Amino acid sequence: MAVDDVDDRPPVQNYLKNVLKAAMRGRDLVRQILTFSSMAGYARNSVALSPLVTETVRFLRASIPVTIEIKLSTTASSDTVLADPTEIQQLLMNLATNASLAMEEKGGVLEISLADIDITPDSPVFAEDVKPGEYVQVIVRDTGTGMAPNVMKRIFEPFFTTRGTGMGTGMGLSVVYGIVNDLQGTITVESEPGMGSTFRVFLPKAGTKPKKDQRLAQGVSTGTESILFVDDEEMIVAWGQGTLERLGYRVTATTDPAEAVKIFSSDPSGFDLVITDQAMPAMSGMRLAKKLLKIRPDVPIILCTGYSATASREKAKEAGIKEFIMKPFTRHELAQAIRCAIDA
Ligand SMILES: Nc1ncnc2c1ncn2[C@@H]1O[C@H](COP(=O)(O)OP(=O)(O)O)[C@@H](O)[C@H]1O
Ligand SMILES: [Mg+2]
Repeated sequence: MAVDDVDDRPPVQNYLKNVLKAAMRGRDLVRQILTFSSMAGYARNSVALSPLVTETVRFLRASIPVTIEIKLSTTASSDTVLADPTEIQQLLMNLATNASLAMEEKGGVLEISLADIDITPDSPVFAEDVKPGEYVQVIVRDTGTGMAPNVMKRIFEPFFTTRGTGMGTGMGLSVVYGIVNDLQGTITVESEPGMGSTFRVFLPKAGTKPKKDQRLAQGVSTGTESILFVDDEEMIVAWGQGTLERLGYRVTATTDPAEAVKIFSSDPSGFDLVITDQAMPAMSGMRLAKKLLKIRPDVPIILCTGYSATASREKAKEAGIKEFIMKPFTRHELAQAIRCAIDA
């Protein structure tokens, strides 16, 4: 209206446009805060995620730079959750907007995917408060700037932003966090500077009750070999040791990669397999693997990675690493990878 009225006076029009932009940002902020404090009053029903995600991606395509390729994959066998379509859209838009901003300069690939995941009592403790049950996993992955640990620690805080004044509200991820929490889901993030970021949202499937681990009945591959398990996170190590021992293996576990080298070199033929995390601050899993392979070139190694970085995967394969598993993985996946690595 006012903008149209001053058509013949460009400087004024520009000024008004800026005011308008600022007002929109303000409105956006208010809306985000309303959501954040759960005042928006969502109407939650069973909603299938695939069509909703597909529709949101179509909208996204129109609003983000063409230098960003969008890859969509919706392979979940069942994808119905109890939610309001609006909140799911908002969640996706916030994650995808951040992802596209992270790739603004150089372009890249934005991957949005849906997958099923069964969380069992034995599943890794990547998210402490996820109850066992069936979840739909919404993954938003970018190949952008990634984040330093000191940024990653704070991203879910309200008003935390690394963007300039007027550029970011710092509310996007707080809102996402609020929504996910409200839906009794969980969100995890994996990122490293220069390596892009992966956000995973776990939403409980509608109409499924938390249930017992069926795979216990089906039987998982077991074994009696000796395994060296390395992860810098205490909780993962505790989980890994317990899980592997219950599968019958003999396990030596440590949170310190340098210690792992020592243990291994004191008895190189005493271990039938090494399982190591990739992202460890003291020494990457890849470097650790190389050291161990120098000591004993035929030792089977499983690398647990957070990304599907195909290039580095190939490098790792060339270096002699037998298997990969993507975090978070289940006991079942781990058990399978172990048999593949040892029996290959
Ligand atoms: N995909 C991503 N890649 C890199 N950094 C990210 C990504 N997502 C979020 N961030 C970081 O988290 C911060 C907070 O994000 P958010 O809560 O959405 O607020 P805002 O986008 O307004 O800054 C961002 O400023 C940015 O530093
Ligand atoms: Mg944001």
